[in-house]
Amino acid sequence: MRLKDKVAIITGGASGIGLAAAERFGQEGAILVLADINQDNIDRASAELSAKGYTVHGEICDVTDQAQTREMARAVAEKLGRIDILVNNAGISRYRPFAEATAADWDAVLGVDLKGVFFCAQAVAPQMRAQQYGRIVNISSALGTGAAPHGTAGSPGGSAAYASAKAGVIMLTKTLARELGPDGVTVNCVAPGTFLTPISASSRTPEQVQEHLEYRKKTVVLNRIGTLEELANTILFFASDESSYVTGHTLHVDGGRSDRM
Ligand SMILES: NC(=O)c1ccc[n+]([C@@H]2O[C@H](COP(=O)([O-])OP(=O)(O)OC[C@H]3O[C@@H](n4cnc5c(N)ncnc54)[C@H](O)[C@@H]3O)[C@@H](O)[C@H]2O)c1
Repeated sequence: MRLKDKVAIITGGASGIGLAAAERFGQEGAILVLADINQDNIDRASAELSAKGYTVHGEICDVTDQAQTREMARAVAEKLGRIDILVNNAGISRYRPFAEATAADWDAVLGVDLKGVFFCAQAVAPQMRAQQYGRIVNISSALGTGAAPHGTAGSPGGSAAYASAKAGVIMLTKTLARELGPDGVTVNCVAPGTFLTPISASSRTPEQVQEHLEYRKKTVVLNRIGTLEELANTILFFASDESSYVTGHTLHVDGGRSDRM
């Protein structure tokens, strides 16, 4: 088992990619902490994971609230004695054409997708430093390095805020890697392409979701949509000791997207 008895906090762990990572970590023996803003989803996901035999704790936490992230980290360290892994996965998108996007859209997306990563990393860092051990895995996006076409192929117009936040996550990963490396903490980043989760539908109609998936299948070099397990395997790599000499790195898990190549 690659994560036997490791304490792993997964933000946004009650849905989609975070939940897939939690399940994959559970298979490798981790003690799971789902830190999410949505209590119903935490309850549902915890029941699902417990039924599969994994040890799971739920922590209600809004990653945009610094006090809540600190309290969450404190509670986990007190209850479980350690924090070995943090997956900074919580995220939202609000696709809207640039000209129509509001200050509130910008603040909401940057707040969860970038500031939340900063707050959560800062909240766990003292514990990881004290342990002289930690693995932080940040979730960016293919949109953090490549601008996809908008307003066509099921893509609603405009991802200025989302793309800016996700690009920021890549640089934040590098700077945190520098600061925490001397204390035995690695910080890496996974940039997913298109995966079917609730976020895919958050700014799209069901027809646009299908159109987008069909378009994406044709424009990635592997000609198919990836599975959440394939993505979770990469997150697992950075969370495990198999990546012990890798830090500050961003790995794209996107089937080979042409807008990045
Ligand atoms: N699905 C994709 O195609 C895709 C592609 C690239 C990147 N991503 C990124 O992957 C991550 C996970 O997305 P997903 O597809 O699983 O979406 P999702 O909507 O299924 O899950 C997001 C989770 O984050 C939680 N969350 C939202 N705001 C929060 C807050 N303020 N505090 C704590 N938790 C909060 C939600 O409750 C939810 O459980 C996000 O960062 C997203 O930007 C997704």
